[in-house]
Amino acid sequence: MPYLPLRPLPPRPTEALTSAWLERLSDRLAESAGDVATNRALICRETLAELAYPEYAVNWEEALADESIPMGTRLALAALDPRNVTLEPEYYSDCDLERFALVKPLLWLWYSFDRLPIGGQNVDLGVRLRRLLAPYIFKRCGANFKAFQHVEFSFGYNLEVGDDVVVHRHVLLDDRGGIRLGNKVSISDYANIYSHTHSIVEQADVTNALTVLGDGVRITYHATVLAGVHVNEQGMVGALAVATKDVRPYHVYVGIPAKSVRVKPNAPEPATILRTAETRVARSEGER
Ligand SMILES: CC(C)(COP(=O)(O)OP(=O)(O)OC[C@H]1O[C@@H](n2cnc3c(N)ncnc32)[C@H](O)[C@@H]1OP(=O)(O)O)[C@@H](O)C(=O)NCCC(=O)NCCS
Repeated sequence: MPYLPLRPLPPRPTEALTSAWLERLSDRLAESAGDVATNRALICRETLAELAYPEYAVNWEEALADESIPMGTRLALAALDPRNVTLEPEYYSDCDLERFALVKPLLWLWYSFDRLPIGGQNVDLGVRLRRLLAPYIFKRCGANFKAFQHVEFSFGYNLEVGDDVVVHRHVLLDDRGGIRLGNKVSISDYANIYSHTHSIVEQADVTNALTVLGDGVRITYHATVLAGVHVNEQGMVGALAVATKDVRPYHVYVGIPAKSVRVKPNAPEPATILRTAETRVARSEGER
């Protein structure tokens, strides 16, 4: 296979404007003390209003109350403020509403930006904006985090992210029971990483379980990792696979349910690569 590292691109002509806009947002977020949830809701609303409805950016409140403006337009304006919308996790009874109130405005800004002409596929600006928002949303966010468009989270606050992690477009990171991503994890387009599951008898019987992707793990296109699964370091889950059990380090798993088809040629000696769900459980019991 040819070695094709990403090509660096020169800055766009609007680089100064881009940097100034991001810097202003960064400063506002950093200053957001006191009633953080309210301040962040205002930051979200004002940022989106400038981008989506500039004619109402300075008089949003008056416009919302102005009956001469079409009802649908007023409703669309209202939805720029996260306090006027509901997000799915708020309906979950295990959602910590106080914690979620802090991250919801930033999730709403993230998701809404992705749907605007300025957002979505606009890689440079999008990656930089998401990198700016991520540390305020996640439990932990390492260096060089890179997310493409239309990534979705559950709570956001239950997600731990190491250094140099890349999350591609349309990925679902369901961090309801917690997701921990090691360093250099890559999650490809349309992959789903879950951390909650439902009883087959009673749908409202929900089990949350921490899902872990170790250092150097790659989850490839359209693959799914179920709740509580540990994909151990350098493990790989092939396109469209469903990982229902732990993935051994350096192994490549494919299919439904995902099974190992090979060990990466750079794997260390076998003794260190044969860790399974059973050995992990045995080890953690031994540690107690
Ligand atoms: C997982 C993957 C990397 C395996 O590649 P590989 O190590 O070269 O494996 P092979 O192509 O030799 O396949 C080994 C066996 O698994 C099968 N297989 C490979 N990928 C599969 C998949 N996604 N689903 C089901 N079966 C698969 C092959 O048909 C082959 O079966 P066989 O032995 O009966 O012929 C690759 O198939 C894949 O899914 N790639 C996704 C795209 C990608 O590379 N993403 C990374 C960038 S983020």
